[in-house]
Amino acid sequence: MSKPKIDNDLKAKDAAHVWHPFTQTFKGVVPLQVKKAEGTLLYGMDDQTYIDANSSWWVNIHGHAHPHIGAALKNQFETLDHIIFAGATHPKAVELAERICGTLPDNFQKVFFSDNGSTSTEVALKMVFQYFFNQGIDKKRVLAMSGSYHGDTFGAMSVGERDKFNAPFEPYFFDVNYIDFPTKETEKGILEDAKRAFESNEYCCVIVEPLVQGASGMRVYSVEFLDELTTLAKQNEVLVIFDEVMTGFGRTGKMYAMDYCNVKPDIVTLSKGLTGGVLPMGLTITSNKIYNAFLSPDTTKAFLHGHSFTANPLGCAVACASLDLFELPETWKAIEAIAQWNTTFSVELSKISTVSNIRQKGTILAFEVNTEKETSYFSDLRDELYNYCLGNGIFIRPLGNVVFINPPYCITEEEYNNVKNVLLNFLSELN
Ligand SMILES: Cc1ncc(COP(=O)(O)O)c(C=O)c1O
Repeated sequence: MSKPKIDNDLKAKDAAHVWHPFTQTFKGVVPLQVKKAEGTLLYGMDDQTYIDANSSWWVNIHGHAHPHIGAALKNQFETLDHIIFAGATHPKAVELAERICGTLPDNFQKVFFSDNGSTSTEVALKMVFQYFFNQGIDKKRVLAMSGSYHGDTFGAMSVGERDKFNAPFEPYFFDVNYIDFPTKETEKGILEDAKRAFESNEYCCVIVEPLVQGASGMRVYSVEFLDELTTLAKQNEVLVIFDEVMTGFGRTGKMYAMDYCNVKPDIVTLSKGLTGGVLPMGLTITSNKIYNAFLSPDTTKAFLHGHSFTANPLGCAVACASLDLFELPETWKAIEAIAQWNTTFSVELSKISTVSNIRQKGTILAFEVNTEKETSYFSDLRDELYNYCLGNGIFIRPLGNVVFINPPYCITEEEYNNVKNVLLNFLSELN
């Protein structure tokens, strides 16, 4: 085991000028210094390699520096780098919108572009609120699920879990009602709660992370529950938003988590893997039915929302290039292989006494390491495990004592086994 080599000059300048996300620098944490990345590998300052078993926050789904994506980026830069998107359009945005709709169920016909997962949530919420506003329908309440994470902007925080992460901002959130996270034992009661809520006629929408809640620890729930929740909402004209920012693009074993469901949502949000991890972009996609409620001779009925980089051509080009890769059978074979390896690894983990709550959905595998304290993002085990893995050439990002892996689809069996063995060694040293 070796500690990552630190470039002291970079360390000092980083500390002097950079404010890192989700980081308490008071504790003297030195960020991992990465000078290059290729395929599954991150390269440290001394060329020490780390397998990126986290796909760099779920985004580099095809690995780093994929040549097909790189070529699309270069070509697009030489053709059209950027163009305002209000009152102008460009071929790559149109291609992406058309192709994305082609990957989704038939009711998805209109694509709104934004910059990341959080903005795709904001757009979804604003679309819902204005959809009812434009029609003069007074439905304002929102239903969300406990433990959810939909991003860090105000709308997204309002519909997420209210916890230590967003406590300073809570006074500024709008009112939201929550259903509990469903387990086999509680599903029925939760659906009854949701039905009662929807029947009050006060709810405009329900928003969920479909089938897997990410930030709360890769918590998996049933297709049957989600189908029933969506059905109940639709019966009461409550719009359903699936936040597929984390689950989209093959992560769960299918293109989207909604592909496991029989009943589809009205709005879906996408980001992260959308561009293969190369450029930031978010999409909010919905039906002509919703879009049509914004058509009017009155300009103020339009969706008056946008960002400077909306539908940036470079982002659109790399997203199209990523979709090309999904058209190759190799990509799906790789996804299936990771899912298989995860299943085998789950069986091995189930024999370890310090491990509990193993869950898997496709290429996502998560488990809890039992500690004296209860499961928490703030568990001390996090740093111990993170450093152990780094010291052994693996980059993961544990959520406290919840360990998860979500590698790029190009990971080889040897690399996967390397990740697995490092985790197993860590667990055996705990015993
Ligand atoms: C389900 C989900 N929604 C939204 C977001 C926010 O995305 P972003 O970090 O791109 O703003 C995330 C990010 O982790 C997410 O997992």
